[in-house]
Amino acid sequence: MDYPFDAIVVGAGGAGLWAALELAREGVNTAVLTKLYPTRSHTGTAQGGVCAALGNLEEDRWDWHMFDTVKGGDYLVDQDAAEVLAHEAIETVIELEHMGLPFNRTPDGKIDQRRFGGHTRNFGEAPVRRACFAADRTGHMILQTLYQQCIKHGVKFFDEYQVVDLLFEGGEPAEGGRAAGVVAYRVADGQLHTFRAKAVLMATGGFGRMFRITSNAHSLTGDGVALCYRHGIPLEDMEFFQFHPTGIVGIGILLSEAARGEGGTLLNDKGERFMERYAPKLMELAPRDMVSRAMYQEIRAGRGIGGKDYLYLDVRHLGRKVIEEKLPDITDFARIYQGVEPLKEPVPVQPTAHYAMGGIPTNVFSEVVQDERGTVVPGLFAAGECACVSVHGANRLGTNSLVDLLVFGRRAGRQMARYAGTVERPRPIADAAEPVRAQLDAIKSRASKGESVSTIRHELADVMMDNVGVYRDDKLLTAARDKVRELKDRHGAVSIADCGAVFNTDLLEANELGYLLDLAEAMVAGALARTESRGAHSREDFPERNDAKWLKHTLAYRGPKGPTLKYKPVSITRFEPKPRTY
Ligand code: FUM
Repeated sequence: MDYPFDAIVVGAGGAGLWAALELAREGVNTAVLTKLYPTRSHTGTAQGGVCAALGNLEEDRWDWHMFDTVKGGDYLVDQDAAEVLAHEAIETVIELEHMGLPFNRTPDGKIDQRRFGGHTRNFGEAPVRRACFAADRTGHMILQTLYQQCIKHGVKFFDEYQVVDLLFEGGEPAEGGRAAGVVAYRVADGQLHTFRAKAVLMATGGFGRMFRITSNAHSLTGDGVALCYRHGIPLEDMEFFQFHPTGIVGIGILLSEAARGEGGTLLNDKGERFMERYAPKLMELAPRDMVSRAMYQEIRAGRGIGGKDYLYLDVRHLGRKVIEEKLPDITDFARIYQGVEPLKEPVPVQPTAHYAMGGIPTNVFSEVVQDERGTVVPGLFAAGECACVSVHGANRLGTNSLVDLLVFGRRAGRQMARYAGTVERPRPIADAAEPVRAQLDAIKSRASKGESVSTIRHELADVMMDNVGVYRDDKLLTAARDKVRELKDRHGAVSIADCGAVFNTDLLEANELGYLLDLAEAMVAGALARTESRGAHSREDFPERNDAKWLKHTLAYRGPKGPTLKYKPVSITRFEPKPRTY
């Protein structure tokens, strides 16, 4: 089936929904395609807050927020983009409030705000309460609010349609082609459908499933990022992947930084607040890269709990009222998954793979760019975690992910509407679905004749966790590069058990594993090449940041023999790089 639309949004998290809402408000005929149901998108698991310098509890300013973002990102942040983020955060949060989002309230009825790591006032002087929150389910509330607005404005949803290819008219992007639509696999019956449109937005989220311990849902397999990569679009700064300090031990589910924002502490086996040694000023509210490294240092020094690979998050002193009003979900997670009562006992935690700072390169209008000169791919847009605009640089600050997807999702929708008003709808493309049909048929033809998807996926998750995690070095990364290559070869012969058409998740997982392998290869290549430590990329063989050589963004281009790397400058408008201490 061929569906003609004016705009296609791929992914129904916060970025996709806000873009769709803007498009619908402008009267653009828009479809949202999601491989899940919209309200199950991963934005819904974002917990602690969305930051905006509202200053509801003490003085705050958007340029302080911008500074924190730049410093938090270890100066790899594009400062023109960070300015947009910090400035527009304020109006987007207020707009969400007006849409009906049930934020917690201060006693005088304003949106309540709390502390989060790396957010300060007066350019680093002291922590500031900047994260606006709805208990510890802020992302969930954003998703519900935006979905309701989209329904109200008549956005058309195609639920459980998994996008498996991108379409271009006039050649591939490198040949000057423009985005023309997508091919989607309908999960219910295995049929392939083409969706034609003038403007296409990738809003497909991250790819944390390449790691063993992750806060990311099963669906976070980097589909949109990998599809762009396969069509010749480079990926930016893939070597920077964030580990959130407080995941549930063994399974990685997030226990929000909000717990520390409300005053929770991190303890080692000796009962020490060990962050004193690593970030004496901000302590547990230092940025995540630093806290995760500190936790590994404690564990390596034998001060993990019982000598093991985890530490404690202690919220006992916060009391029942704060926990029930501000941290109800995560304290329930501790009860359900760990059998721990946070009112009475400290909660075992360990760092968990959480967020991709890198992704599809875009400009501040959420347009995808395809080279170091910033050449736009006409009609193709990206926003949210799958995109790299780059407001997070080498390390994202907590709560800046929700702002990013709101600000740049909204900008994407507005820019798409403008663009769609200037071009004709692409003509139908003959046999548009054939290349991807051939790929999927090849997997099906090997039913039960080779290795399983899960064997390869587990080996990938192990090598990425053990060799490309919080600490890296040449030896670990070289071994990871060789292993990922081997896994890519083996994936070429992967076999599935289910060859049917109905709800064939076996087939989809085999396909998604191919995406993860491509992205892992790009991540390892960038990490191996970058011989410095910056933000979340911490090389034990190159422990210092090296601005002279490495104050630049990586662009990884896919090639037959692996990625080719190029570089582009960082936009520095206000804040010159300085040593980063907290
Ligand atoms: O800890 C958290 O609530 C996560 C927030 C974020 O990743 O921004």
